[in-house]
Amino acid sequence: MALASHINDIHAQSIRVATEGARNMFRMVVLTRSWNASHGGVYVPVTPQTQPNPFLDIARRDVSTTDGQALTLVNPAYMTRLIAEKAESDSGAIFRLTSLRPIRPQNAADDWETTALLSFESGNTETIAVTQSPPAEQLRYMAPLLVQEACIPCHAKQGYKVGDVRGGISVSQRYAPIAAATHAGVQQSQLIYGAVFVLVAAMGWLLLELLRRRWLELGGKIYELQHTREELIHSEKMASLGRMVAGFAHEINTPIGVAVGAVSHNEGTLDRISTMLSQEEVSEDSLRGELADLRQSSALAMANLRRAANLVQSFKRTSIDQTSEHARAFEMKELINDVLFALQGVLKRLPITIDVDCPDAIRLNGVPGLIEQLLTNLVMNAVQHAFCDGQRAGNITIRVRREGANVHLEFADDGVGMDADQIVRIFEPFYTTRRGKGGSGLGLYICYGIVTDRLGGSIECHRQAQSGCRFDVRFPAERMDPQGEAIP
Ligand code: HEC
Repeated sequence: MALASHINDIHAQSIRVATEGARNMFRMVVLTRSWNASHGGVYVPVTPQTQPNPFLDIARRDVSTTDGQALTLVNPAYMTRLIAEKAESDSGAIFRLTSLRPIRPQNAADDWETTALLSFESGNTETIAVTQSPPAEQLRYMAPLLVQEACIPCHAKQGYKVGDVRGGISVSQRYAPIAAATHAGVQQSQLIYGAVFVLVAAMGWLLLELLRRRWLELGGKIYELQHTREELIHSEKMASLGRMVAGFAHEINTPIGVAVGAVSHNEGTLDRISTMLSQEEVSEDSLRGELADLRQSSALAMANLRRAANLVQSFKRTSIDQTSEHARAFEMKELINDVLFALQGVLKRLPITIDVDCPDAIRLNGVPGLIEQLLTNLVMNAVQHAFCDGQRAGNITIRVRREGANVHLEFADDGVGMDADQIVRIFEPFYTTRRGKGGSGLGLYICYGIVTDRLGGSIECHRQAQSGCRFDVRFPAERMDPQGEAIP
């Protein structure tokens, strides 16, 4: 985590700063020592604190000035010790001169210093550590003192050459102040991190809340749109039902009219027969003639009533299908004929022919009303657009084939056709080239919805090489319901 690594950084940084302090102190001490060594030691007045050094075995160690002031020679090690005593009482930093082979026994290295000195002999140049040595945790620093030319006069007798490690100076600092500084840094960072976290969380929450509101708003809009769409689809359905009723009314008019005519003709014939029978003399020939007329005319009535009955039957099928969502088994060919029949009211007066190429054997299982509406919409779309409301003559071909488990319905016209732009947008809702002329822009959108949503199939629109366009519809012959069982 970022905070943890940041705290680690603060620790490392505090130790680096403290080490740099110790390093500087070491450099200062080395500097004063080499100044001292360059003079072969320095004479100072003898005081109770600065007594002659018993370890300094050298001629003229103690001298006196002409006016009788006693002076003693202070060698670098002794001076270091004297300064160290002052430094300790002033700042709490301790430094110490040590060696693995001390002339003065008190200069012997402790365990930590011994390890460090040994490492210097094998080339190491400094050692840093935080130690638990009592009375408190300490940061310790140590670097080597190498024998220089100036050291030789006093140290050659021990066998040292220039460049040897004579010993080292170790600097110790109490770790507590460093830890306190680190702690303050850590607390500050925790505070800053905490504040940033709270800020980010608050902003995140705000954003999410805004998103949520927008989402709810959109949800409402989508619901509204869906509702409108359903209403439009419903009214479109009602309109097509209306067209069908009009077509039917028109169609049934003729046979019923003929039947009524025939039956009323028969009434006249019956009247004549009964008049004949009330007369004394009846000619058998004329009676037979009337009976033959009666039979012929009632056959005409019968044929037309049958036709009317067939129409009613077909109307019943299509209208029930169009209003009900019940799935059943049905014949594709019969369904196409019913639809075309229902559309006859519209089609009959127009110079448009429709060829159907559908084998008898294609049986489907599903909701026939859906396919009826699909076909109705495709036909109406072709009439309105491809044939300019019937101002243009032409032909529609409906071809149906079984393709494995699927049905392929090809619906082609040889009308005006469409350009590429129109084809791309053709299935969009409310897309119409006839706005203001009664186009709802929903016909093909509904087709698309029926095929993709309800029939679980696909619909494509293609431009044809010669003229017009072709719809390719493919859907499963047996529509499975979501549980995976065929709809009964
Ligand atoms: C004037 C003589 C003199 C000179 C010059 C001198 N030293 Fe020393 N040094 C001594 C004496 C005497 C001691 C003995 C202990 C004491 O005085 O604390 C000593 C002690 C030391 C010690 C402490 C270990 C011990 O043996 O007790 C070190 C380390 C040391 N000297 C390094 C050096 C180095 C490095 C130089 C050269 C830069 C140097 N000295 C120059 C006289 C000298």
